[in-house]
Amino acid sequence: MTDSHADALVFFGASGDLAYKKIFPALEAMAKRGRLNIPVIGVAKSGWNVEQLRARAHESLAEHGGVDPEAFGKLAGLLRYVDGDYTEPATFEALRKELNGAQRPAHYLAIPPLLFETVVEQLAKTGCAQGARVIVEKPFGHDLASAQELNRTLHRFFPESAIFRIDHYLGKRPVNNVVVFRFANAFMEPFWNRNYIESVQITMAEDFGVQGRGAFYDQTGAIRDVMQNHLFQVLCNLAMEPPVRSDSETIRDEKVKVLKAIPPIAAEDLVRGQFRGYRQEKGVAPDSEVETFAAVRLEVDSWRWKGVPFHIRAGKNLPVTCTEVLGRFRKPPAVIRDSALPRNYLRFRISPEMTIAVGATVMGPGEEMKSQMVEMVASHHPCPDEMDAYERLLGDAIAGDAMLFARQDYVEEAWRIVDPVLKAGTPVYEYDKGTWGPSEAEQRVPPPGGWHDPAGADQEDFRLARVS
Ligand code: BG6
Repeated sequence: MTDSHADALVFFGASGDLAYKKIFPALEAMAKRGRLNIPVIGVAKSGWNVEQLRARAHESLAEHGGVDPEAFGKLAGLLRYVDGDYTEPATFEALRKELNGAQRPAHYLAIPPLLFETVVEQLAKTGCAQGARVIVEKPFGHDLASAQELNRTLHRFFPESAIFRIDHYLGKRPVNNVVVFRFANAFMEPFWNRNYIESVQITMAEDFGVQGRGAFYDQTGAIRDVMQNHLFQVLCNLAMEPPVRSDSETIRDEKVKVLKAIPPIAAEDLVRGQFRGYRQEKGVAPDSEVETFAAVRLEVDSWRWKGVPFHIRAGKNLPVTCTEVLGRFRKPPAVIRDSALPRNYLRFRISPEMTIAVGATVMGPGEEMKSQMVEMVASHHPCPDEMDAYERLLGDAIAGDAMLFARQDYVEEAWRIVDPVLKAGTPVYEYDKGTWGPSEAEQRVPPPGGWHDPAGADQEDFRLARVS
């Protein structure tokens, strides 16, 4: 174990949804890989004992990913449990005993942000914050002011180097692959800039609605839920400069520089939509103006990207579930006898599978010099033992590697970009479920050449002609 490796993991919210769906499966996977060798202490107010926590873990694994008897046995042996209210000092005294002299505990706050302050304050008062780190889940605030307030609260008890803010998109291999593909291939960087790229667009489409999370979603909306965090992370990986060193701070500096180059989004560069029927969802206000779809156009005013529009759209109840990036090239001069040359493109699919594709023009089958578009595709479906985002992030946080976590300045810059437009009261347009959002997105903020349909007809021809 290195000096930066945590010597105990504490997770608050042990009886909650996040633990059930994500944390137990991640812990079992780590145990299976031999990456989990420290006590794991669950904290909740459920009247349980450690046996009940083990039973809950078992149930969670049976539903999410499967129980591996050996790995589960290992995890069960590491599990400890503290029951109690987060406002009660006695809970934290019990935690301190359970920590049994651990010098570098990692405290994972898998609880609503409203409780963060109470918990970190109690950790500090009872000596549990000494030498410790804290792992927090999004949302990091509701706007710039509340994010700054939250950061101030955390910094009262923990230095920035001990704060690990989880954005699970950063744990996804295809998201990090964007950086690797860009900087590990000599052919890539010469054209990935304003001289060759005409526009970049990112689509995050989900073919389902709010899935019973109406009360949460109605306080959040698409911009806060996925755009300001997950999709800005993708954007940074696409737009950042090559880091001069590979340590976590240098890489995170480059990402923050991308955000610094983005002016606040103007009201005319945003279209918000709401699917029909949203207001009837449980927990949603009958007159809700919250967006379940958003499309924006923004600029990255850096030397590399000045003048290249970046378009991002995200929504619920769209035709497919898919996250995809499309960078369109400027048109080549038409020197061959085909005036309708299409634009080349580079396509990164983030999910459901990882794909990198290049759209290229070749000579068609006929006698004439007619062109035809083909796609060169490399595609990879996640294999069963591939690391899931939570396993990667939890493992990194325990190991003390901060690279894949959002830093304070990053979070605040991201809020700066969306804050004014979130408060501008822009109209929200209705759309039918199963469509690509309101037509205003096509009319008002279309990328040059139009929005790309990750599943649709615009790829049909290419698919037929794929050379893979
Ligand atoms: C979450 C959002 O952060 O990310 C959800 O709250 C969204 O609304 C989810 O569905 C998408 O994550 P993934 O990993 O399923 O693409």
